[in-house]
Amino acid sequence: MRDPSQDLIVILDFGSQTTQLIARRVRELNVYCEIHPYHVSPDAIDALNPSGIILSGGPASVYEDGAPHCSREFVTGHRPVLGICYGMQLMTHFLGGEVAPTTEREYGHALVEVSQRTRLTANIVDPLHVWMSHGDRLHRLPDGFTAIGRTENAPVAIMADADERRFGLQFHPEVVHTKEGHELLSNFVLGVCECSPTWTMESFVETNIAAIRAKTRGKRVLSATSGGVDSTVLAKLMREAIGDDVVCLFVDNGLLRKDEAEQVRAMFADINIDLHFVDATDRFLDALAGVVDPEEKRRIIGATFIAVFEDAVAEIGEVDFLAQGTLYPDVIESVAVGGPSSTIKTHHNVGGLPEDLRFELIEPFRELFKDEVRAVGRELDIPKDMVGRHPFPGPGLAVRVLGDITRERLDVLREADAIFIEELHAAGLYDSIWQAFAVLLPINTVGVMGDARTYENVVALRAVHSRDGMTADWSPLPHDLLGRASNRIINEVAGVNRVCYDISSKPPATIEWE
Ligand code: XMP
Repeated sequence: MRDPSQDLIVILDFGSQTTQLIARRVRELNVYCEIHPYHVSPDAIDALNPSGIILSGGPASVYEDGAPHCSREFVTGHRPVLGICYGMQLMTHFLGGEVAPTTEREYGHALVEVSQRTRLTANIVDPLHVWMSHGDRLHRLPDGFTAIGRTENAPVAIMADADERRFGLQFHPEVVHTKEGHELLSNFVLGVCECSPTWTMESFVETNIAAIRAKTRGKRVLSATSGGVDSTVLAKLMREAIGDDVVCLFVDNGLLRKDEAEQVRAMFADINIDLHFVDATDRFLDALAGVVDPEEKRRIIGATFIAVFEDAVAEIGEVDFLAQGTLYPDVIESVAVGGPSSTIKTHHNVGGLPEDLRFELIEPFRELFKDEVRAVGRELDIPKDMVGRHPFPGPGLAVRVLGDITRERLDVLREADAIFIEELHAAGLYDSIWQAFAVLLPINTVGVMGDARTYENVVALRAVHSRDGMTADWSPLPHDLLGRASNRIINEVAGVNRVCYDISSKPPATIEWE
């Protein structure tokens, strides 16, 4: 939750894969930013009173049947507007200019020459190194607009209106390949929109502690903890806000990593939080027996979690609220706007709640990205190695044991995963990686051990770099590290005779295999 006195930038999402990156970049400027689907009503946005509007990119062409069009009022209103790529083309179309397909799609690096200094381009190094990705381009500027930057292929790479309130960029300032992207967004958000940079994690903690107190008013809150970063930071935030009125429940769902249950108990003891421990391994594994479909696994796990909570509550005594560590990308990925940023996986904490849920939800991180949650954790003095833990999915090893989940297969995966993580720590690489883990494949392969033929499991190792889990690049781990991990896994883990390394990025792959 934002303090209403803090400034807000609204992004209208037209389905670009980088829409969330725009939001991250704006927040890095310490200005709060929200993403809304393009079809949101102007009244709904007026009620939020944003200082400026950003129109995202998108895969469509503005004249195409069914192309996403927002209300025209967003670009004709009094607020500053920045149109990015498709957003710029839609703005052009609305304001009487013309967009036309280019003969060749422009994709990749380009140089933009700045021909006029405006509030957007005042301090920008000329030429700009930008990242382009567009099929259409501007054919005729809207009335009152001037081209203030061009590339070899696009005569209008940047446009501005006469009072320097509305701008369009044919390229993507939010991606790292656009070197001057930070300055451009900063000029728009802090300069043109005159936002104050007050959105900090310190302010977030303060506002949310007050909001949690006001909402719960002495009633009890159940905080479900997985031992991961989000739920640990959440437990600490709830504890700071309402002390003993928060009851932390830790469910061992049988899908945790090696020794994780014990580690979580020790960690909570360290930060002085009481933990109610429930071993629900049998319940989860029985419910998952024979289930191979990943979405079905997630649904069952979500439903079983809630059922286990309800039984635990019967023991704990009445609670009115359930605190969950739902993050902004989960919420956004659940909003289908039809483009690539529509639902890809059902995240159990959003998709799987039964309708008769008796608890009211408290989700203080609904608006935060993962690294913002980490920053909240640091703000709350949570130890560095806990805040730095790699993300772990709610459905745990269920989505890493591909296919059928059995105790034996879970154990094989646990051992292999522990070895891989140990080797990453030993090489000093754990902290520089977003997420690393092992996956157990649902096939056997032939090998030879001593003189005997084996027919055993394959383990895939995955390590990715990412800023927020929305896009990811496979990590080029040193070969000797991969070699050591592979040798150790094959020698030390009974039932594995082959190890592969996953070299796919997201998109088009995802981080988890299921
Ligand atoms: P994908 O696999 O979608 O993962 O590229 C992006 C990030 O989300 C995590 N993930 C999940 N987290 N419930 C969760 O709480 C889920 O069902 C789930 N699926 C994926 C994944 O580990 C990565 O950090």
